[in-house]
Amino acid sequence: MKNEINVGLLGFGTVGSGVAKIIDNHQQDLQHKLGVEVKITKVLVRDLTRKRDTPLQQDVFTNDIDEILNDDSIDLIVEVMGGIEGAKEAIESSLRAGKGVVTANKDVMAVYGPELLRLADDNKCDLFYEASVGGGIPLIRTMEDGLASDRISSLTGIVNGTTNFILTKMKQENMSYEDALAKATELGFAEADPSADVDGIDAARKMVILASLAFSTEVQLEDVLVRGMKEIKDGDVELAESFGYTVKLAGHAEKDEDGIAVSVEPVFIPDGHPLASVHNEYNAVYIYGAAVGETMLYGPGAGSLPTATSVTGDMVAACRNLLLGMNGKRSHSPQHERKVKSDDKRFSRYFHRILVKDEVGVLTQLSSIYSEHGASLATVIQHPGEEERDAEVIFITHRMSRKQHLDVLHELEETEVVSSIVSHYRVEGDERL
Ligand code: NAP
Ligand code: HSE
Repeated sequence: MKNEINVGLLGFGTVGSGVAKIIDNHQQDLQHKLGVEVKITKVLVRDLTRKRDTPLQQDVFTNDIDEILNDDSIDLIVEVMGGIEGAKEAIESSLRAGKGVVTANKDVMAVYGPELLRLADDNKCDLFYEASVGGGIPLIRTMEDGLASDRISSLTGIVNGTTNFILTKMKQENMSYEDALAKATELGFAEADPSADVDGIDAARKMVILASLAFSTEVQLEDVLVRGMKEIKDGDVELAESFGYTVKLAGHAEKDEDGIAVSVEPVFIPDGHPLASVHNEYNAVYIYGAAVGETMLYGPGAGSLPTATSVTGDMVAACRNLLLGMNGKRSHSPQHERKVKSDDKRFSRYFHRILVKDEVGVLTQLSSIYSEHGASLATVIQHPGEEERDAEVIFITHRMSRKQHLDVLHELEETEVVSSIVSHYRVEGDERL
């Protein structure tokens, strides 16, 4: 029987340093829960000269990954260095060497998750990745265990802390986009390359992970329709507010007999919906299950200690399994074939903001385009544009297919009186109209 568990930590940045803090500050609680000491015995970093504020001894740091992966005394590897190919190789080597792995890396899990989980099964090792989605929210375990008996039909979530932080600061404090992004970076929320956050890629990777678990199928990144923050145009946030909506960059995944549909894009959320009051770096995922009904998981989606809490939670689970000789006993094979819905099977309400020439009969001309495509309008508003001869028309539709939405936009673009489509959004979670 082991009397301690040795951990090799790959990365000592925002998340890695948080893991070391929690292991140090909560050692007594961990020992009480596990009956053994958990020790970080080696840490991989890039820059050995950097001064680090940590209780760990200087000699545990190395910049040679093989020193950790080839160390037989290390039982568990915690990968919090980020990146894709290097991290994948490190996880593979660890699993092949019989070491369990905990990772916070959604980039790797979204692309190589199924393959790595099979490798973990083959090598009778654990591979846990709770922190890869939703920072400190126990989402993965809830999907895998808590809701294991349910049939999930859809989930909608704010799964990127950086963009939610930026949108909140812009709306509530009138901060510029650039200042809000700089602040999110300073606080350690943003990715090493923040374009992954603002372009919706980080959220798309998380939706791949969540949708694969929710629907027990191998969702791929190419299945996700992705639109980033640059689709939000000046004035959209205020316009949304005037109609009783909040703009959020949200992920959505649904499944029915026609297949699955997964997206990440800026959406209009009704102010009364719980997701509209998720602010700053907080995340939330709103789930519909056949048995549970509606449920929402909420918490900090990024940041050092919240994310490290999920990582150390996984470490506790992996250590327990190690001590009980139960590691690698999960089955990860998907139950269902992957089938992606076509655009004529994806339904939603839409908001269209259109710049037109201010001429007699424009509204009738535009409305007739909607009716030709079988699209029904719930709200029509016209107001003066910035230039004297321009006007702006807002349409909010009833539910229609994404195909109808795209066909209407295409025809509007071809129409002489239309100067441009300023912006368009899916209207999420509002079945009132
Ligand atoms: P970070 O602050 O940039 O830290 C990365 C750490 O890994 C640094 O210590 C760096 O060394 C080390 N490192 C990176 N590449 C390396 C390499 N090739 N060789 C050796 N060391 C290397 O990153 P982070 O924010 O902690 O994120 C880590 C992972 O957690 C990422 O996968 C991220 O997506 C995920 N995650 C982050 C958050 C968050 O809120 N930040 C939340 C959930 C998940 P140096 O210190 O010497 O530079
Ligand atoms: N950059 C990510 C975010 C970190 O802002 O959500 C947490 O995964």
